[in-house]
Amino acid sequence: MAELRTRYLGLPLRSPLVASSSPLTGNLDSLRRLEDAGVAAVVLPSLFEEEITEESLAVHGALEAGAGSFAEALDYHPERPSYETGPEPYLELVAAAKGALRVPVVASLNGDTPGGWLEYARLVEQAGADALELNLYQVAADPAHSSAALEARDLELVAAIRDAIRIPLAVKLSPYFTGLAHFACRVVEAGADGLVLFNRFYQPDLDLETLEVAPHLVLSTSADLRLPLRWIGILRGRVGASLAATSGVHRAEDVLKLLLAGADAAMQASALLQRGPGIIREIERELGRWLEEREYESVEQLKGSVSRSSAADPEAFERANYRRTLRSWSSSFPS
Ligand SMILES: Cc1cc2nc3c(=O)[nH]c(=O)nc-3n(C[C@H](O)[C@H](O)[C@H](O)COP(=O)(O)O)c2cc1C
Repeated sequence: MAELRTRYLGLPLRSPLVASSSPLTGNLDSLRRLEDAGVAAVVLPSLFEEEITEESLAVHGALEAGAGSFAEALDYHPERPSYETGPEPYLELVAAAKGALRVPVVASLNGDTPGGWLEYARLVEQAGADALELNLYQVAADPAHSSAALEARDLELVAAIRDAIRIPLAVKLSPYFTGLAHFACRVVEAGADGLVLFNRFYQPDLDLETLEVAPHLVLSTSADLRLPLRWIGILRGRVGASLAATSGVHRAEDVLKLLLAGADAAMQASALLQRGPGIIREIERELGRWLEEREYESVEQLKGSVSRSSAADPEAFERANYRRTLRSWSSSFPS
């Protein structure tokens, strides 16, 4: 049997198959099912700093409104446990997941202010997380904010969090950077032990009945794999960090392509949501079969063998391929 073991963020994994942040990693029952199905590590859903702040403001607002409206409310201090407005439920999830699972548990943070990120990073470390993933999700919609300023802010955050914790640190990036290879290297210089490529941006839709902006979550397909595949291929061998792919990992072929491009781990959310944890064993079996048929002894042997650094045609990952791809389309109308 080919060896599927790999390392990600310095952590030994039984295979490259990791469950990325999604509602499935947000409760113990489904976390256990993922582990039973053979998942190699889990990334918990993100703790959103602004959600905590909003909840806290809402509770204070409600208490103050109540106190102003009713005389009896002046003496009324509802027994509201403080954790309802803080990160405690999340920290409890981290601790419970650590207690219940043998596979590494990666916590995830999406912060809003430098202070918030640091505080929560320390707390999830204390709660027992094996590693921390920073979810750098922001839509750069303010014309006053230059890309240089936004990138500098992200890099400062990464460096500050690196200083604040000892557990491995991964940074989940979006693909929307003009100089992505440069920025990825800077993130690693700032202290990231790994990069997670890429966060999926959910584009809002418009509802023609209500004339409102409607949130619209579309799950991925294998077609979405191409973006992380290209960038893992480009970055392997050029950044001294672990590389994990997320977006479009649905089948064993997807995982194999990512490994060939140089990924250390292949993360899944949509496929698990659509088809359940049973797909992990299926993919694992097919991985093993493919490796054996081609006489690979291990995932490690396969890793990065078609990355930009080792490919016969490094430009295939870059612009030269663009013209060829456009020309490959047939010019006739459908009949
Ligand atoms: C319902 C849902 C919830 C998600 N929540 C988070 C989250 O809290 N934090 C995060 O970093 N990514 C989150 N993601 C993104 C996934 O972790 C993953 O990166 C993305 O869906 C692309 O992978 P996929 O093609 O396997 O779905 C979520 C995705 C889905 C579908």
